[in-house]
Amino acid sequence: MTLIEWHNKYQVQLQDRCEVDAIRFYFKQLIDVFFGWGTTTLGLHPNRELNLPEESLLETALSRLLDNEPLQYILGHTSFMGMDLQVNSHTLIPRPETEELVAWVLESTDSKDRVVLDVGTGSGCIALALKKARSNWILHALDVSPEALDLAKQNAQNLSLELDWLLADIKALPKTLPNFDIIISNPPYVTAEEKKHMRANVLDYEPHLALFTPEGEPLFYYKKIMEMAQKKLRPNGRVYLEINPMFYYELGEMVVSFGFKKVELRKDIFDKKRMLCCQR
Ligand SMILES: C[S@@+](CC[C@H](N)C(=O)[O-])C[C@H]1O[C@@H](n2cnc3c(N)ncnc32)[C@H](O)[C@@H]1O
Repeated sequence: MTLIEWHNKYQVQLQDRCEVDAIRFYFKQLIDVFFGWGTTTLGLHPNRELNLPEESLLETALSRLLDNEPLQYILGHTSFMGMDLQVNSHTLIPRPETEELVAWVLESTDSKDRVVLDVGTGSGCIALALKKARSNWILHALDVSPEALDLAKQNAQNLSLELDWLLADIKALPKTLPNFDIIISNPPYVTAEEKKHMRANVLDYEPHLALFTPEGEPLFYYKKIMEMAQKKLRPNGRVYLEINPMFYYELGEMVVSFGFKKVELRKDIFDKKRMLCCQR
């Protein structure tokens, strides 16, 4: 079959779940990542014949898309703040809201030396973006998932960035942690009740360890982060959090109860109260 015939097959089989433009985008991304054919190849060489190994890759990718698997996991890559990052089933796919959180840190902090901690680093997206933007900052990043941390280290190596990686549980952090100027986190914040409204491509494929809070404790991870921040954040240091918009008020009250001040909320591009910053 030719390239255009494969493209048309994708259009027919995926038409019930995606728009025409989205399917074309998916197809172009796949042929770019699988075969290095660039996104103009479909337009320039529509009658190019595919060989059997190429057809087999496209067939497998199509059945994974039909099973609702996110494109990023099929490609094994995604983009975050201009960086190309590997992702896999152990890491959350970085979201545009999280790019906004990183942008907030950068625009509200000058470029003097800082020591920064990213809690629940996953693919390493937040910590890597900060290190890339401020090479003089010392970045520490922790996660409880060894598989996620391995991938984050791999991403750092691909980008030639040096960070301090720590396999650790926020519930029992080592006493040897240094003091920080900034703590940033996008912790698990989805409640069990929200599960029924989630799309299959998230629920069936993204790691539940990265998504969900313990039953009945929507602020569980934020509390752990604030307990640590109380001990490890330098005076006037700041905490930046990605938050569940449903609990912004309770979270604001909680950070104040920990003695933090200058509490600021920000909405994301989707007009949801999605970020909170506070100062020690
Ligand atoms: C919402 S994901 C965020 C990943 C990444 N920072 C991002 O923004 O895409 C939360 C991360 O917290 C990690 N995590 C979950 N429980 C943890 C715990 N008890 N201690 C440390 N990290 C934890 C998960 O493995 C996951 O990588």
